[in-house]
Amino acid sequence: MTEHSPLEHYLRHLIATAGPMPVARYMQLCMTHPDYGYYVSRDPLGRGGDFITAPEISQMFGELIGLWAASVWNAMGMPERVQLIELGPGRGTMMADALRAIRILPAFYEAIEVHLIELSPSLRAVQRDTLADVKPFQWHHLLGDVPDGPAIILANEYFDALPIHQMVKQETGWHERMVGLVDDAFAYTIAPEPTPRFGVSVPPHVRNAPNGTIFEWRETNEIMAIARRIREFGGAALLIDYGHIRSDAGDTFQAVARHEYADPLRTPGTADLTAHVDFQALADAAQTMGVLTHGPVEQGAFLTQLGIETRAQTLIKHSASQSASDVASALKRLVESGPKAMGSLFKVLGLSHPSITTLAALSDSNGPA
Ligand SMILES: C[S@@+](CC[C@H](N)C(=O)[O-])C[C@H]1O[C@@H](n2cnc3c(N)ncnc32)[C@H](O)[C@@H]1O
Repeated sequence: MTEHSPLEHYLRHLIATAGPMPVARYMQLCMTHPDYGYYVSRDPLGRGGDFITAPEISQMFGELIGLWAASVWNAMGMPERVQLIELGPGRGTMMADALRAIRILPAFYEAIEVHLIELSPSLRAVQRDTLADVKPFQWHHLLGDVPDGPAIILANEYFDALPIHQMVKQETGWHERMVGLVDDAFAYTIAPEPTPRFGVSVPPHVRNAPNGTIFEWRETNEIMAIARRIREFGGAALLIDYGHIRSDAGDTFQAVARHEYADPLRTPGTADLTAHVDFQALADAAQTMGVLTHGPVEQGAFLTQLGIETRAQTLIKHSASQSASDVASALKRLVESGPKAMGSLFKVLGLSHPSITTLAALSDSNGPA
């Protein structure tokens, strides 16, 4: 008999007793089950892990985000206290690099109170080490747990990890895609009944798509919590993720383990599960909450406008030949565009309080809906 992991055992039990579960519930349990979830039990980042993120590719990424934050602080009127909040800080690398760059502006550095939103005990342990000699900080499980106050909020590769609902177009309407058991293996099934009135929330150009089309959506509670905080207390947010600028149809649910694509339904809890971020949906939700949105723009254009090439030249000038070539290849990796290149796959969206009408390196703002 096959030995199942405790998480697989639990998922099988849930399906056997309550029937197939929505893809969103499956993804949530795989990623954040309090005992067996992927993020709960490991540090998946870096060359020895499952995937690598922009801050882990080069210090330049976090440094430029730090300078971007400084420009926001300036636009806020240089308040004496400001929260620097990061959602899903991973190994803490981006925050450490950002704070190091911010040290050149002592008044801003002193004004900052650092808050990290992290649920993973394993990653919290890494963050404690990374930030030990940098600046004191506090952890929270939810953004809502951070004390009130003006804030600059950062999130890199956070939204892609949040659960995605998949809806499948059928003759009878849009049905939720489920995960069930077929021949004793996890398999996709389709809810027998359509989700009432779901069609009206699908973008007009997707409504008449052929049967079998998949449309993905996420709950809006996280983006709304960010927007509400900015509207009420002032400040801005920067959201960076891979995804699409305009809402569209398509199945983007994927698993990555050991830097290779895997099947999301095999060995649950052992691979990183993600799906593209729908930036139009994020911007629409934020505008509804009364904040301005800026962009989205491609990551390559964003980093170039912030001066990544000049920063790379400086690092190259001061480094030995091997690390000079590492800097050059990191620069290329972060900004290059192409169908599979980070510089164009990743997008950057800014949110701001209506009193801040421009954000560095992001295009024109769009007003509250
Ligand atoms: C893909 S990693 C990105 C890490 C980091 N931002 C980087 O760029 O290297 C996702 C991060 O979000 C955290 N995370 C995922 N889901 C979360 C949730 N529901 N609540 C809080 N943190 C979450 C993970 O533990 C991890 O720190």
